[in-house]
Amino acid sequence: MILNKNLPYSKQSISSGDIGAVKKVLKSNYLTSGPQVKNFEKNISSSVNVKYAVSTNSATSALHIACMSLGLKKNDIIWTSSISFVASANCAKYCGATVDFLDIELNTFNLDIQKLEKKLEISKKKKKLPKILIPVHLGGNPCDMEKIYILSKKYKFKIIEDASHALGAKIKNNKIGSCKYSDLAVFSFHPVKMITTAEGGIVTTNNKIIFEKLKMFREHGIVRDKNKFKNKKIKTLETHYEQHELGYNYRLSEVHATLGISQLKRLNKFIKKRNQINNFYKKELSNFPMKFQNISKNNLSSVHLVIALISKKIRNNFFNYLRRNKIIVNIHYIPIFYHPFYYKKKFLTNKSAIEYYESAISLPAFNDLKKNELKYIVKIIKSYFLKNAN
Ligand SMILES: Cc1ncc(COP(=O)(O)O)c(C=O)c1O
Repeated sequence: MILNKNLPYSKQSISSGDIGAVKKVLKSNYLTSGPQVKNFEKNISSSVNVKYAVSTNSATSALHIACMSLGLKKNDIIWTSSISFVASANCAKYCGATVDFLDIELNTFNLDIQKLEKKLEISKKKKKLPKILIPVHLGGNPCDMEKIYILSKKYKFKIIEDASHALGAKIKNNKIGSCKYSDLAVFSFHPVKMITTAEGGIVTTNNKIIFEKLKMFREHGIVRDKNKFKNKKIKTLETHYEQHELGYNYRLSEVHATLGISQLKRLNKFIKKRNQINNFYKKELSNFPMKFQNISKNNLSSVHLVIALISKKIRNNFFNYLRRNKIIVNIHYIPIFYHPFYYKKKFLTNKSAIEYYESAISLPAFNDLKKNELKYIVKIIKSYFLKNAN
């Protein structure tokens, strides 16, 4: 097979149904803050089995208001995984908090629970415990949330799951986003993610007070419930509102929400397809020196990414070889502490994260990837190892 186009590591799948739905909403009365935003929130909350969902214009803004809703402020500390997109840490910096990074585990590529436990013990003695932990379900592979939840009770920290990659993933029978083991969870709807709204995100929670705060921070810090009004001097008309805190305009539009509603209908199909792709790679390449992400038998990964580890001696060469053959592989992610904004020498103790970064490669995995394209990728990968044997 000769490939006449590039195969990206991921991309969106847009159906005629998606296009029809968006066209229709453009002719409707509302382009923002209308019924489709509410419907999208309702559909996501019933899909992940949670009480409340607040949509936003990105997962980055969702993470920001999630931190704000837990009262994160200057001098507070958050911990997150060394291996994630920078947004997992930036959300805390927006609140003026300090960020520390956790090492990862080289089987699951998620944060290392044993190292987390040790770090908590030491930090307790130093009185430097985090206020919030932000575990990241890397590539849609669920973290061991039961263990993290137990630690959160012992060391009294809150949990925001960065589930940007994990819509549709499950821990046993619990959907990620149900917040069974966390205070809040955040999903991303960026085009490469499980479903897309072009740009968009959502926060889920079972806590009503947090829910009210999320809505307020999403909309400038404005309160619209007359029972909560503080200013007794103004005679309140129906349209009255009050700003109680400093918030943002992080609203999702009706157009984006409509695309999300339409996409969500295909989520199960997407997850099935992505898991098939992952299994195909694993099976076909089982005799080659590549180590794929370990997903617990009890869990379901949404397979946002198919990441493999390969000897760091050849990783860059392998990366360039695949790209020369139109397979547009990528690296997820540069350890966040390597970015100059975050860099501190002390973070270099996260040795597995560094090892991971030097060995990881993300292979194409997206909903519209065709079987012959997948076979082509596997053939090219095998050809690399055959050419470079010994
Ligand atoms: C782990 C993780 N968290 C947060 C984000 C931010 O998502 P968004 O682009 O929707 O703001 C991303 C996006 O790539 C991500 O991968």
